[in-house]
Amino acid sequence: MTQVRINPQAFFPMPVALLGALVDGKVNFMTEAWICRANYEPPLIAVAVNKGHHTSQGILENREFSLCFPAQELLLKTDYCGLVSGKEVDKSQLFDVFYGDLRAAPLITDCQLNFACRLTHQVEYATNNLFIGEIVEVFALSDRMNGTRPDFEAMDLFLLTLPDNTYWGMGPAIGRAWMDGKAFAPVPE
Ligand SMILES: Cc1cc2nc3c(=O)[nH]c(=O)nc-3n(C[C@H](O)[C@H](O)[C@H](O)COP(=O)(O)O)c2cc1C
Repeated sequence: MTQVRINPQAFFPMPVALLGALVDGKVNFMTEAWICRANYEPPLIAVAVNKGHHTSQGILENREFSLCFPAQELLLKTDYCGLVSGKEVDKSQLFDVFYGDLRAAPLITDCQLNFACRLTHQVEYATNNLFIGEIVEVFALSDRMNGTRPDFEAMDLFLLTLPDNTYWGMGPAIGRAWMDGKAFAPVPE
């Protein structure tokens, strides 16, 4: 087997979320997959959003945004939010919305996990704004919790791969992080 060069637009599996903002006072959601945790404490998260998207305008207006993680049962609505722009189509009534302390970060009642974020940094690239926000509040559906922790098996979240434009389920758990490597070789205490 050899390693072959492939198109740099190919990417690894990514979480699929709905990125919410208020634009001109109206709720808007777009599908978002370019998401990365950026700092441990304070908890920061980075989202890359095309500069032309309606949502970019809303985040810049209010300096707040939400990231709402849907289960597979919301796949069709989630994909739809990535097919149409709030510039042409009113997406404000697609979901039942609630708010935490951040009044410009609309959260989705039916999503498994909801992050309310305050914009802390913005980096402008050629096509995208990289918005970095502090995760101020997190909400999870009460029946998808395992004690105090999210039950990710029950949450049924989904992933995206490019360039095949395919959604994937998470599949079964296959190991324990920060643990299984100890069976490979001794780890100094
Ligand atoms: C699965 C999926 C993932 C997407 N991820 C991103 C993303 O991470 N960043 C981005 O700028 N656009 C992404 N998009 C495209 C936007 O969701 C899409 O252009 C949307 O219509 C923009 O809506 P708005 O103009 O109302 O903000 C994605 C679309 C899909 C279908």
